[in-house]
Amino acid sequence: MNCKTYLYLTLLIVVLSCCGFTPADKNQNRYASFSPGEVWEDDQGVAINAHGGGILYYQDTYYWFGEHKGERSNAAFVGVTCYSSTDLYNWRNEGVALSVSDNPESPIVKGSTIERPKVIYNAKTGKFVMYFHLELIGRGYEAAHVGVAVSDQVTGPYRLVKHGRVNAGIWPMNMTEEQRNSNVKHTDFEQWWTPEWMAAIKDGLLVRRDFEGGQMSRDMTLFVDDDGKAYHIYASEENLTLQIAELTDDYLDYTGNYVRVEPGGHNEAPAIFKKGGRYFMITSGCTGWDPNAARLLTAERVMGTWTLHPNPARGEDADLTFQSQSTFVIPVQGKRDAFIFMADRWRPRRPIDGRYIWLPILFEDGMPVLKWFDEWDLSIFNNK
Ligand code: DGJ
Repeated sequence: MNCKTYLYLTLLIVVLSCCGFTPADKNQNRYASFSPGEVWEDDQGVAINAHGGGILYYQDTYYWFGEHKGERSNAAFVGVTCYSSTDLYNWRNEGVALSVSDNPESPIVKGSTIERPKVIYNAKTGKFVMYFHLELIGRGYEAAHVGVAVSDQVTGPYRLVKHGRVNAGIWPMNMTEEQRNSNVKHTDFEQWWTPEWMAAIKDGLLVRRDFEGGQMSRDMTLFVDDDGKAYHIYASEENLTLQIAELTDDYLDYTGNYVRVEPGGHNEAPAIFKKGGRYFMITSGCTGWDPNAARLLTAERVMGTWTLHPNPARGEDADLTFQSQSTFVIPVQGKRDAFIFMADRWRPRRPIDGRYIWLPILFEDGMPVLKWFDEWDLSIFNNK
């Protein structure tokens, strides 16, 4: 290289740096594989902060929405973040999609709890609709509300339109007349967890307790079926029973059709997908921020009946789902029957350092199987 070329090159580097083509751009195509549990940086070189998240695929781009976590607290002091990607490895920070409020009267005031946000697109209204688990400030986890927010743009800003319990004054479709009319009350039991109490739970004790005010809604996900119908799947009845509620055509409300799944089964963290006309759901047990063994359920129709199967995880740490808890299943675009299991390895002492566990869903005899990989890429789906 002669002196002149060297000078030109140096000048070019200086100009590009001044125009902002700096480390951020170096990060843009930095990853070509997934490394579950390792720090995963965005286009700015900052660790991705989108926990308990979900992915929306819209106009050739994946959008990852998740909980912004702080250094010390799991409460929401920023809101729901959004990242975008075209290859699932490299993520661009799109900022805060739903911001917490400074107004102490707002249900999403700074310090409230906003968990497991999921966004779906409604082609009829042209709106992006976000559902999330909302706990009101100062009330621990007792409110058990769902929050609904809407935006005209995929990355936001999203505006909170409503929050509350689910399907007040409506019975689940799969609760019998006898169960609906039972006189057994929640207050009849001095002690929880006895065989009698558990039998009463299965019979809808808490559905009856919450009938007027609406059903509890904590850990949650959304699912849009091939026919465009959307469903809200959530841990209800004090996390003892999952419920699946059908949404109206605009995705902003409930049709009133809903079912109970695995009454008394103590499932949370539901993540659902469909393959070959069959519905699969991966869930966890309820042990707070600590991991436990995943569960697998299948159904021929979204509204059930759902059948429980053994833990789909295999190998070392399978009984702790590789130290993680499910949050979403990503259908990989352009590849047949390719799905990614998306989970969180929570770090409650330093929530911002929670890690993402993304693993390929493999199939054995038609059933999903999760195996640990230190590193993997999408080519794993090529030779199925
Ligand atoms: C487990 C849930 O899956 C999380 O989303 C969170 O609610 C924690 N419990 C709180 O302990």
